[in-house]
Amino acid sequence: MQAAIITEYGGPEVLRIETQEDPQPAAHEVLLSVKAAGINRPDVFQRKGNYPAPPGVSNDIPGLEVSGIIKTLGKDVQGMSVGDEVFALLAGGGYATEVCVAAELCIPKPKNISFEEAACFPETLFTVWHNLFQRGNLKEGDQVLIHGGSGGIGSMAIQLAKLFGATVYTTVGSAEKAEFVKQLGADNVINYQEEDFEEVLKDKKINLILDSIGGSYFNKHIQLLEPDGRLIHINAVQGAKVELNLLKMMQKRIWISGSTLRSRDLNFKINLTLEIKNKILPFIESRKLVPAVTRVFPFEEVSAAHLFFDSPKQYGKIALKMYS
Ligand SMILES: NC(=O)c1ccc[n+]([C@@H]2O[C@H](COP(=O)([O-])OP(=O)(O)OC[C@H]3O[C@@H](n4cnc5c(N)ncnc54)[C@H](OP(=O)(O)O)[C@@H]3O)[C@@H](O)[C@H]2O)c1
Repeated sequence: MQAAIITEYGGPEVLRIETQEDPQPAAHEVLLSVKAAGINRPDVFQRKGNYPAPPGVSNDIPGLEVSGIIKTLGKDVQGMSVGDEVFALLAGGGYATEVCVAAELCIPKPKNISFEEAACFPETLFTVWHNLFQRGNLKEGDQVLIHGGSGGIGSMAIQLAKLFGATVYTTVGSAEKAEFVKQLGADNVINYQEEDFEEVLKDKKINLILDSIGGSYFNKHIQLLEPDGRLIHINAVQGAKVELNLLKMMQKRIWISGSTLRSRDLNFKINLTLEIKNKILPFIESRKLVPAVTRVFPFEEVSAAHLFFDSPKQYGKIALKMYS
């Protein structure tokens, strides 16, 4: 197979396509002929050496999500056939023409979404569903603040929150990105380069916040949240160490939680896949939920794709399209 390898930690240029031995599926796995792979921010952190793969997963091939066609079935796999079109969450290794994945993590690809769109679902959909809905308990009528609305996670979170009846406030870094998130359904957009979101939102009744920024945002969130509000962290790029006034948390009965998806065990991911198939697949089949794919790069241009992904102009999702 061909795989994009992190030859050393560094910039986009360290990614190089090399030939590797074809992977063989274990008994419970299928081998996919990959048609497209999605790019996520954690791939960049891995490329820079700041996000090692979990034990048992190759550290030199990034890629947390793919779509493709089943090429080989592991000997214990039932109910699936060679030729089935699927998309799947991975713990790594997606930037390749072939990859093995547990059969239970495969979701059938509806005919009316492209392979590039399908490849851009898993990492953001699974992360948002688990954090905003399972941990954050998003309900109809909630007022939700989603930071980084124009990113992969943010654009998925806005769409899902709207589908389930929430009012969405979101932060973006430019006027162009503000237009983009409005088209996705965001009700109120704050350009964090020009305005302080705490000041803008101080009279709103925010129940739930999805945050990957941390640092100075943390106490603004404690200040903004309504009683019984939920603050959910999926990263802390501005700083993971913060000071919390426990009294404020107790007085407002604020729930603080967070999680990282990649390191969760297979059982957890299988249960998440089942719930997503039941609750979300119908929205995908009817195209009510489609990832906001803004660029597709041929696989051989993986370095150019990362260069573009790293630029401040990038928004939405980027897919890599495999050769055939
Ligand atoms: N915990 C998990 O399981 C998990 C899983 C996947 C991803 N993540 C994390 O989630 C985050 C988003 O991932 P992604 O793939 O969606 O990345 P992405 O597409 O690069 O999106 C990141 C977003 O953050 C925004 N941003 C940067 N600084 C900001 C600030 N000070 N205030 C508000 N927004 C800011 C950027 O918006 P502008 O360009 O407008 O500045 C961008 O839209 C990453 O930190 C990633 O590591 C966590």
